[in-house]
Parts: sequence; structure tokens; C-alpha cells
Amino acid sequence: MDEVDVRIFDTTLRDGEQSPGISLNLREKVEIAEQLARLGVDIIEAGFPIASDGETEAVQAIAKVVEGPVVAGLARCDAGDIDRAAEALAPAARPRIHTFIATSDIHMKAKLKMAPAEVVAAASAGVARARHHVPDVEFSCEDATRSNPEFLVEVFRAAVGAGATTLNVPDTVGYALPEEFAALIAYLREEVGDYVVWSVHTHDDLGLAVANALAGVGAGARQVEVAVNGIGERAGNCSLEEIVMALKTRMASRGVTTGAVTQEISRTSRLVSRLTGYPVPPNKAIVGANAFAHEAGIHQHGVMMDRTTYEIMDPLDVGLEGSRIVLGKHSGRHAFVKALEELGFSLDKEEIAKAFARFKAMADRKIRITDIDLEAIVVDEMATEGSDYELVAIQVAGGTHLSPTATVRLQREGELIDESAIGDGMIDAACGAIQRATGVEARLESFTVSSVTGGIDALGDVTIVLATGGREGPVRRATGRGVSTDVVEASARAYLSAANRLVHLGSMRSTAEVV
Ligand code: KIV
Ligand code: ZN
Repeated sequence: MDEVDVRIFDTTLRDGEQSPGISLNLREKVEIAEQLARLGVDIIEAGFPIASDGETEAVQAIAKVVEGPVVAGLARCDAGDIDRAAEALAPAARPRIHTFIATSDIHMKAKLKMAPAEVVAAASAGVARARHHVPDVEFSCEDATRSNPEFLVEVFRAAVGAGATTLNVPDTVGYALPEEFAALIAYLREEVGDYVVWSVHTHDDLGLAVANALAGVGAGARQVEVAVNGIGERAGNCSLEEIVMALKTRMASRGVTTGAVTQEISRTSRLVSRLTGYPVPPNKAIVGANAFAHEAGIHQHGVMMDRTTYEIMDPLDVGLEGSRIVLGKHSGRHAFVKALEELGFSLDKEEIAKAFARFKAMADRKIRITDIDLEAIVVDEMATEGSDYELVAIQVAGGTHLSPTATVRLQREGELIDESAIGDGMIDAACGAIQRATGVEARLESFTVSSVTGGIDALGDVTIVLATGGREGPVRRATGRGVSTDVVEASARAYLSAANRLVHLGSMRSTAEVV
């Protein structure tokens, strides 16, 4: 049997980051990129450099530190975009420029205002310019599944002629059905040829992103474009964990392999969820809390007799080992740093000092601290890095006969800001005090509370979505997440994190606005 290696092209940091409310800082992006490298993805799409200076810096930083995977940067078929991508990717050991142009009638007419012949010329010129900078060039026809197939052949042939090494077929609006997508890939391979790698990029508008990607692989695609937890524009992208486990579970017998280290899947999912503020639904395939839980008595009985009665995958294969107790109140700095290293975090001195202070405060209130708790506070701390406002202290008072009151102390550029507010409850009061202290006027769009691990002393885990704008300008959304043994403090941290992101969004154009 021939071995068929399918490359994993991860776009969590580009398409994934285009999800509403997500705005990752440079430190967070680098942490995710390093974890993606541990997960063994082949290509990391680190961002869209032309979108902003911050985006260029993030791509540059990832290109500098990531070892192993190819690092890609997105660019429209436009000289400015391509040159900026090349500049951002300059430090990468293995850079790739991913350039694209829309090819459907609706996109060419309504968005690009270009005739088909102009699109062919732009694709060819864009790829040639990218090839002038780097040997590895990917070309995509945006909205390929709603484009005329004969026109796709013409554009892809022009891209190959100009030096493209990977051809990507995006189902940009998640419109395709698996059998028609497979037929399209087969047709394109037949007409354009197989001296390039064919890639599929699928969106989940009809819940078919993974099915379409699988159909694409069945038809000869050798690269799948994915995002961790399936995040991305609108309903999201093909989920990394789902396609990787589908290929491993069902297509290994046909010789299909990937380089993914599947045992890193759970950790990657938790990291991305925590940093993006996008919680993973409990019933989500592979990484949801219930993905390996058995509720019905008959199922529990079966699994006790033989796990495979109701489990098609081994939870250990996706890195679900349960939480381990690693530290407690008496653990010192040395044990703390060692535990962090075992979890794969490499923090600098200042970051260790901050995380250790947070750990000590937590250890006073929580007896058993597991690896997952530790991961949560370190990532929570990381999310505040480079933020305008930092939470220094919070005090709340309330009860059945007292108006709930909160006082917060924030720090901004070394200056302390104290504010108080009365609210409907203590969480409302704490958020009100932060709103006053930051001056960020925003609507609370959603508030969710869960716990990091089980048990009465579990860390509270709060996710808040704030929004501004609407009537006159564009709506800006920001998601914030915070953890603490105290749910009011966790809420204050989440609120402040979202407010900080809104401040940041106000000072830059988002990737989504550019594409
Ligand atoms: O969905 C899409 O078409 C994209 C392209 C830029 C590849 O994300
Ligand atoms: Zn996309």
C-alpha cells in the first residue's frame, strides 16, 4: 500500500483570528505558534502582514522563533501585500507566501470590480512577484466553489506557469457538498496537473467543513487547511482536531498519514480556547468535555467491560490523561518553574515572577493545584501582557440588605486608578467600577461562567463579550476570559481583558476589515 502524507496547514492565527471578538496579542500568538509546532503541523499561517503593523510584527516574531513548520503569510495578489509578507517572513527558516484572488463572478464583479482577464493577469503577476521573494508559494482562488470550473482551470494554470508550488481550493462561504467538492478537486487535478500540491480550505457554514476536506483528500488533495477548535470566519474553518482524528481513525488503513502528534491535541485546544476566549462546547467532537464521557448505564457498563464497545478512539491518543495534581501551598518557586517547563511553557523572569505571585495567592485558597489549573493561570497572566490596564486589587461588599459595591484598583503605565461602583450584584458592581476606571463604554453581550476542573474548590472561569459601536460605525466585539478561585475576581479579570482588547482594536484595523 502506498503511503499518502497529508500536510496540515494551520490557519488558527490568520483565518481563526478573524472570528468576531478575537484579538490576540503578540505574546499569545507566539505561544500558540510554538504549541502548533509541538503538535507537529506542517505549515503555520501566522497572519496577514498588510493588515496592520501589529500583524506584521507578529508574523515576524513567529518566523523568528518557530522551528520545524513552514511559516506562511497571507497576501492579496497585490505588490504591496506581497512585499510586506516577504518582509515579515524574512527571519523564517522556511517561509511561504500565500497569495490569493477571488474568482467567482459575484466576487469579481461586486468586490474586485475586475474583468476575468484582469484577474488571470493579477494572479500570474502576484505569484511571480511572490516567487521572486521565496521558493515556496501557495496560490488560492477565493470563492473557488462558486467559480466557473473552466475559469478556475485557466487561473490555476496561470499560477502554475508563474511558479506556484501549492494550489489551494477554498470553499470560502461553506457552500459545497462533499461529492461535488471531490469532483471539483478531481477535475482540477486532471486539467491543471499534479506537479503541485493540491490543498483544500473549507468553511463550516453548512456544518460540512470536515466532510468536504475529507472528500478533498479522497480526491487527491494532499494539504488540508484547518483551525484549532474549528474557529474562523462566521461558522469557522475545518477543525484541526476533527480532520486529524478522522484521517487517523478511518483513513490510516488506506495508507493516509499526517505528521500530527495527536497527544498534543487537548492541550492545544485548551490553549487556543483560553487565549481566544472562545469556549469549547461540551459536545464538540474530540475536544469537548463530554467527547469521551459515558452517561447511559448500558454504555458505562460496556466501557467497563471493554473500552472499545463505545469508544472509537483512545482518549490517551488525543492527550486526555485527566488532570494531575502537581503543586500545593508548600510548593516553592523551583517546583513551580519545573512544573511550567513540563507543561511546555518557557517564560522569562518577569513572567515567572507574575505567574508565581498569582500561583501563591491561589494556593492560599485552593489545596490541590493541578496541571490544568496551572496552565489556566499562566495563560490568563499571558493574556494581560502588554495590556493598557492591569488589575492590581479588587474589593467587594454586599449582602441581602446592602447595595453591592465594588472598588477596583487598576494600573496604567505605572499610574494607579481607583474607582468604585454600586451594581445589581457584586459582579455587576465590579464591572461597573472597571468601566469607570478605564473609560471604555461598552455593552455586555454575553457572560458565561464555568469551572476549570471539577470539585468545590475549582477555579471559576468566566468569559465575557463586550461590544461597542453599531448605529453609526462598525460593531467592534472583544472577548475576555478570566480565572480565579473567586468568581467575582474572575469576572473582573474577564471584563478587564475584554476592555483592554477593545482599546487595542480601536487603535488598529482588524484583519477581517482588510480581507
Ligand atoms: O476562505 C478563504 O477563501 C480564505 C482564503 C484567503 C484562502 O481564507
Ligand atoms: Zn478562509
